[in-house]
Amino acid sequence: MFAKEKLTRRDFARLLSISGSAALFPMSAFGQTGNGRVSLGDLGLTSAPLPRTPADPDEKFWHDVRSRFLLPRDFAFINAANLCPASLPVVDAADKFTRQYEASPTPATHSALAKVREDARTLIAAALRVTPEEIVITRNTSEGNNYVSSGIHLGAGDEVIVFGDNHPSNLLAWTDKAKRFGFTVVTVPNVNPHPGTDALVDAFIRAVTPRTKVMAITHVSSNSGDLFPAAELCKAARDKGVLSLVDGAQSFGVLDVDLSAMRPDFYTGSFHKWPCGPKETGVLFVNKDVQDRIWASLISLYGGAVGISKKLEGNGQRDDAKIAAVAEALKFQGGIGRDVIERRSRALAGALIEGLKKINGVQLWTHTDPDRHAAIVIFKPGSLDPRKLGAALAENEKIVITMRAGADRPGLRISPHFFNTMDEIDRTVGAIKKYVTTGV
Ligand SMILES: Cc1ncc(COP(=O)(O)O)c(C=O)c1O
Repeated sequence: MFAKEKLTRRDFARLLSISGSAALFPMSAFGQTGNGRVSLGDLGLTSAPLPRTPADPDEKFWHDVRSRFLLPRDFAFINAANLCPASLPVVDAADKFTRQYEASPTPATHSALAKVREDARTLIAAALRVTPEEIVITRNTSEGNNYVSSGIHLGAGDEVIVFGDNHPSNLLAWTDKAKRFGFTVVTVPNVNPHPGTDALVDAFIRAVTPRTKVMAITHVSSNSGDLFPAAELCKAARDKGVLSLVDGAQSFGVLDVDLSAMRPDFYTGSFHKWPCGPKETGVLFVNKDVQDRIWASLISLYGGAVGISKKLEGNGQRDDAKIAAVAEALKFQGGIGRDVIERRSRALAGALIEGLKKINGVQLWTHTDPDRHAAIVIFKPGSLDPRKLGAALAENEKIVITMRAGADRPGLRISPHFFNTMDEIDRTVGAIKKYVTTGV
């Protein structure tokens, strides 16, 4: 993230007004004199149900969607790959459940919230086209990945294949545990540009030996924006009797992920990213066929009610109110349509790619073929220092994107989602063009 954006009192009111449409906030709290008060309605926001999704949603529909988020209207937040805002229905649900819990932190309230947690599990399973018995509600993708690398019994003589561009929770986690338990990690290096499905599957198959036990990959890379052929790689692993872990941090909640078609053994995601759910909530899918092959890394009370959640979710007291709000995030996206959200995010990313391609000097690191990317776009802004450009966009233009860290492929990452508008994409391309042409 770059230098702090300049926030107006209206911005602060939006950011702090978290108690639903009826809430009013004294503007004097923001250094104002007088007794001016502002409601969500005044700010053009609402948590009312969305209209039915039209067959071909237009910009008006997407502006309606945007009005369910507290993001100020002039604040182009295009950084979904890092963290997303929760929608107002989710914020309201978390607030309602928290108030109920704080008013009565009793076993009865705990049990009532645990029932909503089970509703959330059913909705997660439906979204991913699997069964509730295969779903664990975690804290985040990192936890899910580590439950797998710590939970599978591995030792000397065993091999794990990892993709070189994996997130540390699916890369360093393996190499660290390899030192402790004596297994070997084999890395399939990242190739840029995206070499295509056949080349990738071939590279993984060539790395398999009779000692290989696990293949740990990433569905969409946060470092390149590339989309990987997860179904093909899971099939290759299955055919060789190897377990597959797919890190879905950058696909869950933006692509219409169908695990019944992908058929991984493990899949992980975070609700605070693309699903726009409560912070510090995530998912781990464990295929029913391999549930006897994973041990619990953390053992305590309050496990889930069904299937693998009984074994892996019992990790002591958690924020039950927040977990209960996960259900609302699934209803919000499900109501719009997961396929519709995927199309929209891809359309925004596509428009961004087309705009960036036309700017002299800009180099795209993300593959431009829609079969090889999702909604993350990474680029090098000519000879401009990416850090300076990012700061100028945040400070002067109220556009928030992020740095692409790492010595190779340095640049900036833009990750649009269904709460962004086409105007914001146009504004972003225009601003990048201005700075690349005239300097920061
Ligand atoms: C591919 C990938 N995996 C895992 C993570 C970790 O997500 P979390 O911090 O929610 O655990 C990220 C975060 O950006 C990611 O990009």
